[in-house]
Amino acid sequence: MAPIRVGLLGCGVVGTEVVRQLQTQADDLTQRVGAPLELVGIAVRRAKRIPEKAAELGVPESLFTTDSAELVTRGCDVVVEVIGGIEPARSLILSAMEHGASVVSANKALLAEDGATLYAAAEKHGVDLYYEAAVAGAIPLLRPLRESMVGDQVHRVLGIVNGTTNFILSRMHETGAGFTEALEEASALGYAEADPSADVEGFDAAAKAAILASLAFHSRVTAADVYREGITEVSAADVASARDMNSVIKLLAICELSPDGSTIGVRVHPAMIPRSHPLAGVGDAFNAVFVEAEAAGQVMFYGRGAGGGPTASAVLGDLVAVARHKVVGGRGPGESAYAQLAVRPMGET
Ligand code: HSE
Repeated sequence: MAPIRVGLLGCGVVGTEVVRQLQTQADDLTQRVGAPLELVGIAVRRAKRIPEKAAELGVPESLFTTDSAELVTRGCDVVVEVIGGIEPARSLILSAMEHGASVVSANKALLAEDGATLYAAAEKHGVDLYYEAAVAGAIPLLRPLRESMVGDQVHRVLGIVNGTTNFILSRMHETGAGFTEALEEASALGYAEADPSADVEGFDAAAKAAILASLAFHSRVTAADVYREGITEVSAADVASARDMNSVIKLLAICELSPDGSTIGVRVHPAMIPRSHPLAGVGDAFNAVFVEAEAAGQVMFYGRGAGGGPTASAVLGDLVAVARHKVVGGRGPGESAYAQLAVRPMGET
């Protein structure tokens, strides 16, 4: 069987782990896909990082390029995008699809802002678009919503989808530390980004909430539709008050269908939840998501939502799925946004 040609955009923490897994699991992946996965190029932003990366990964420097636009036109079967952000990621993905590649992306910001354009291009060019790693890292969550639960009627998705803020709030509860001190600890441990504002101001969770709501309610929800409030105003006194009420403060993403099924509410904000609630015990940088559906009842997803290994696990799962389609035919689900429900402003029910 001819190899499946894979182009990789980005070789940061996640990209590096993807390459490692492709190397260490090569034989198993070949069995699972039905053909070998051949890495044909790795696009990085800065040429000066290439020798160091090549040595670290034990691959030839010639595998690397700084010309990502050229890599996606090289006849790849699959392009894996782990560079993040809106541009150039969107243009590269669209070009890859135009050149016949299926796409695996971890890009929550892009999916939440302009997923519809990516879905339309995938449809037009008859390729797959998978993005399990965009929400909740290693936790299989998007494919269950897109595929396993698609026959059910989801009423609510409720969860902790940002590991950095969960770590900060957990530390504030455990040690009585203030927000700034807990953030410094998160940064020192490598949880928080160099610029942690996307995490602590709730933008990261809002993008993930938009993706979850779109899939759960078969509608188009963008990050701009999501009511957002971060955790920067949560004080040690708030945490102490929550403790007095036998509760904890968590940053929750909440996506709800109105009782008559005509509108959606999507919001991200700190919330006080009783210690008896399963989400209250989700500590450290873990993620957990509850889905409530008509027939299934309550389903809970729990695991590591960030980091190279967990995110690479989700990317590899998608890569195997789309590569299999290239081998045996067929495609994964396209956009199922047929409902186009209006998103309610915060406060309306
Ligand atoms: N900054 C994100 C988090 C990374 O802390 O959850 C994973 O999306």
